[in-house]
Amino acid sequence: DRPLRAVAGERAVDVGAAVDADRLRTDVSYRALVRDEFTVVTAENALKMGPLRPAPSTYDFADADAIVNFARAHEMPVRGHTLVWHNQTPTWFQSWDYTDDQLRRFLREHVQTVVGRYRRSVGTWDVVNEAVDDDGSMRETVWYDAMGEEYLDRAFEWAAEVNPDADRYYNDYGADAVNEKSDAVYDLLGRLLDRGVPVDGVGLQLHALGDWPDPDSIAENVRRFQDLGLDVQITEMDVAFPAGEVPHDAAERQADYYREVVETCLDTGVETLVTWGVRDGDTWLRAFRDFPERFSGDPLLFDDRGQRKPAYDAVRDVLST
Ligand code: G3I
Repeated sequence: DRPLRAVAGERAVDVGAAVDADRLRTDVSYRALVRDEFTVVTAENALKMGPLRPAPSTYDFADADAIVNFARAHEMPVRGHTLVWHNQTPTWFQSWDYTDDQLRRFLREHVQTVVGRYRRSVGTWDVVNEAVDDDGSMRETVWYDAMGEEYLDRAFEWAAEVNPDADRYYNDYGADAVNEKSDAVYDLLGRLLDRGVPVDGVGLQLHALGDWPDPDSIAENVRRFQDLGLDVQITEMDVAFPAGEVPHDAAERQADYYREVVETCLDTGVETLVTWGVRDGDTWLRAFRDFPERFSGDPLLFDDRGQRKPAYDAVRDVLST
């Protein structure tokens, strides 16, 4: 059976996974799976501000470099995730008493240093992550408090100054189908484009946890973003059941959902789909605060042992027909 990577490559579709630097270093079978099965990688944590910034004036690029070097060695493009987020900021940062102006300068320096370092190795950036709250209002983050909505404009511009050739994405969860939140994301991106902000695309994370967004509605949502002139990618897909409601045919139902989503991608011209992890045992859900009370812990394409699941076969089958 040909690996997913080969099948996706022929289709000119990218299928990726979020990866962890330590596992790439220490786990040979993990490394082989990423290399043989996927065409693109995202750093699950290594390019976020917290991991990158151990202290105010220092950077620790070791994990990010490990991922980028792995990707280069295997000719895989890298999705850079993420430059500006309210979450996973450094611990020291959370107790730092800064002025608005200091914060703006700090953010600029951060964005430009990170984009600059990976100018030749990261071709796509999630410049801003999760700026919209669940009810559709602008999320009141440290960045929003200091700069208002303008923080998005500046972040995209700063990234573009350093690497004009990269693709710059806005990335969010819960905005996969047409709903209140995706309406707000749509409006936000419309405003950014009206102001001439250099944003190229929108990342729909697609964490299908308990609620699985309806594929027809995803298609409708994708098309309206495309009509704005934006590219759309599925950036963090995983598929779980509510805890206590796992049906006997869970693996097949999960596979069906993966299949429908890949079909939706092909129908709408979405050319990149990234799963949020490699094997079930790697999923962030298992470290999540109230796991296992909320969700089943097997949301990915490979099981704990790295064996292909029905979801894997479904994705590969759609791409090979
Ligand atoms: O690496 C440290 C380790 O040194 C330390 O001892 C340990 C103790 O807590 O923490 C480790 O860091 C954890 C890190 O994952 C790596 O495992 C962090 O605490 C933990 O908060 C972090 O969680 C990540 C989460 O983002 C943070 O909000 C998940 O791995 C990551 O999958 C998740 O990814 C997000 C996307 O970036 C954005 N969209 C939603 C998605 C899922 O929440």
